Amino acid sequence: MATTGENWYELGFVDDYKGVNLREIKIDNKLTIALSYHNGKFGAISNTCNHVGGPLGKGSLDDDGDYIICPWHNWKFHRVTGLGEPGFEDDRVPQYRLKIENNKLYIDLNPVTTRHKKPHPPHLLSRDNTRKDGPIRIVGISTTVMDKAYPRYSTSEKLLKIALDHAKTELKCETMLIKLNELHFRSCEGYYSKSAKACTWPCSITQMDSSDQLDKVYEALVHWADVILVSTPIRWGAASSLYYKMAERLNCIQNQITIRNKILIKNKVASFIITGGQDNVQDVAGHMLGFFAELGFLFPPFPYIAHSRGWSAEDMENNMTDVENSSDLKDAAKDLVRRCKEMAEILVVTDLFKRKVVLSGRKARKIELGKKK
Ligand code: FES
Repeated sequence: MATTGENWYELGFVDDYKGVNLREIKIDNKLTIALSYHNGKFGAISNTCNHVGGPLGKGSLDDDGDYIICPWHNWKFHRVTGLGEPGFEDDRVPQYRLKIENNKLYIDLNPVTTRHKKPHPPHLLSRDNTRKDGPIRIVGISTTVMDKAYPRYSTSEKLLKIALDHAKTELKCETMLIKLNELHFRSCEGYYSKSAKACTWPCSITQMDSSDQLDKVYEALVHWADVILVSTPIRWGAASSLYYKMAERLNCIQNQITIRNKILIKNKVASFIITGGQDNVQDVAGHMLGFFAELGFLFPPFPYIAHSRGWSAEDMENNMTDVENSSDLKDAAKDLVRRCKEMAEILVVTDLFKRKVVLSGRKARKIELGKKK
């Protein structure tokens, strides 16, 4: 594990390094180290985290000052030995020797130890997502927010249930209903703002926090479903806050296209049910269509149904009876899911993701659709 030979390099005056407890130092564009100083002792380890390469020197020291906490997803490495935290000592980043002579700090560029990555079992969500045989599978995602103990009537969820029921009983599909309101999940914490590579698939939060329940949505979208049907109320002219909380967490799916040319959503259909509020159906639909298109979803003819009674309808309690009594809306919900199913059937036998396309984006580079990475 130790390397031989010495190759000392002068970093500069010791006093210049005492004022900061952790910093990143690039040496001749060849090596970058995380240099720490705590309780009168320096430490130097590789700057590159074992997880997905986060810059350890830009992290922070833990409360005891012993471990560097990676700034990307909080993995810890001993600031002097480079060993992972207790229980993860096998996860090791290289350690570098330091010495002080004539008030100057030197580093031996030959590491004392080599990097070792403890094998971590891959997250279940990262498995291959080739479609499994079977009937068309439809997941409904209700994004309405309500009191869990005493749920009120939801017009959007009502129409979603009608669509799913029709899909199951008449169209012989497999169906699943996910109510976001019943899941405990964290908001996106913007790891991509630290670095594009810090946003991972599965989501960084999903990998770190086993109590986070958005894995159910990821599983349905990426692996299980051929069709997703998202329902939302209109709140202040926009989709529900839970819808946006989910959408932000789906960044990790879109970012795979941006940073890895990896498309997780292929040959899948999305459609929407939008109700309530007094106005702005087309704007809400436009946002949803635009977002799900960016993930790779395809749309059936007329991909959403909606209901709103207009700007002057202040008597919102009547929205419920309006929807409840409307055979028109119920028929529309059934026909929406029928269109989705028929499109999904086409996509089961017609792979639209086997040719190269050019996507505009940060670098307007070619994306090889369908190519496994
Ligand atoms: S914890 Fe360091 S890159 Fe993820």
